[in-house]
Amino acid sequence: MPDVTLLNIGRTIAVPDGQTILSAALAEGINYPHGCKSGRCGSCKSRLSGGEVDLLDHSRFALTSDERDGGLILACRAVPIGLASVVWLKDEDEAASHAVREVQAVVVDAGLLTHDILRLRLKGAGPALDFAPGQYATLRLDGLPARDYSMANAPGAQELEFHVRRVPGGRTSGAIHEHLHVGDHVHVKGPRGSAHLRLGHTGPILAVAGGSGLAPILSILESAVAQGMRRPVRVYIGGRDERDLYGLERLTELAERHGDMTLTPVLSSPVAATLRRAGFVHAAVRADLADLDGWKCYTAGPPAMIDALTETALALGLQRDDLHADVFFTPEIKFDTGDIAAAG
Ligand SMILES: Cc1cc2nc3c(=O)[nH]c(=O)nc-3n(C[C@H](O)[C@H](O)[C@H](O)COP(=O)(O)OP(=O)(O)OC[C@H]3O[C@@H](n4cnc5c(N)ncnc54)[C@H](O)[C@@H]3O)c2cc1C
Ligand code: FES
Repeated sequence: MPDVTLLNIGRTIAVPDGQTILSAALAEGINYPHGCKSGRCGSCKSRLSGGEVDLLDHSRFALTSDERDGGLILACRAVPIGLASVVWLKDEDEAASHAVREVQAVVVDAGLLTHDILRLRLKGAGPALDFAPGQYATLRLDGLPARDYSMANAPGAQELEFHVRRVPGGRTSGAIHEHLHVGDHVHVKGPRGSAHLRLGHTGPILAVAGGSGLAPILSILESAVAQGMRRPVRVYIGGRDERDLYGLERLTELAERHGDMTLTPVLSSPVAATLRRAGFVHAAVRADLADLDGWKCYTAGPPAMIDALTETALALGLQRDDLHADVFFTPEIKFDTGDIAAAG
């Protein structure tokens, strides 16, 4: 079992054979900066200061070939070979102050938001889990694999809200939809993730959600409005058809309170004539916004949407460090070959 030293915190951890540095660090409860856990967002970019790693597939946006040649790695895709030492590059500003905790929570509400997205409200016995808006927690139901779900409400409430899309054939999301009832117990471990609201940023905000990716976006926007952030905000919500959209009333009310927030739902496969924008959400962003230099982009949803949006946003001038993405997928899932790292 190789030992890896995390130089930012001066701690050495044992990484089980075949595991990545990030998964071992998270299992130890360490706040290693990360987002997608699947080589797509670049949040876990680190410098390999010593030793060697096997670097698994990743997108060219997360890590360019020049960066790789210059000694950078993605902790979520790096499997150490023998002893190694690394330095993560991102500052963990306010998110790092929330210690990871494990709590036993009870379901206090469960109801459908769309035909395949369930709203779940959980309440712990002790003090509520503190988190930065946009972060996620790992939920574990007895006998099922633990899965990550993003908090959908602003921090500070007694309850945690989650939006769980039922994935066809999905073990945990299927069980949550079919078997979880008010009064049942769920283990919650968190908070985690680096795709959280940056309070210090002063430029405009682009927020893009696909499906249940609206959960962290709602948490971010509700917190931003509550904290008096009044910079321009452009929100895009992607779904296949009208029946996939939800949360529009909550967003409209936020936009009214904010004053300079626009909301654009975009349908990719409407089954009937519609007054909504049609097409892919990244194409709508490209059509509407000319220059994203100086913006912050928060996005969450399925991998294909995040990959297309990332490419669009960077082409429109968004700085890589201003993109904060959560990819809603079970992390061990493979890439399409066309997406694998190529020349930077
Ligand atoms: C940081 C993070 C935050 C997340 N937040 C949320 C959230 O707030 N809400 C939410 O609904 N989900 C969220 N997810 C996704 C969630 O963690 C699970 O991956 C998802 O619920 C599927 O788990 P499962 O056990 O039901 O399916 P699995 O048993 O893991 O997968 C079953 C099959 O479905 C495929 N599959 C897995 N995920 C998807 C997908 N998203 N779309 C299509 N096919 C898929 C797999 O390839 C597999 O073939 C998040 C993921 C991450 C990494
Ligand atoms: S690239 Fe590693 S967490 Fe996203």
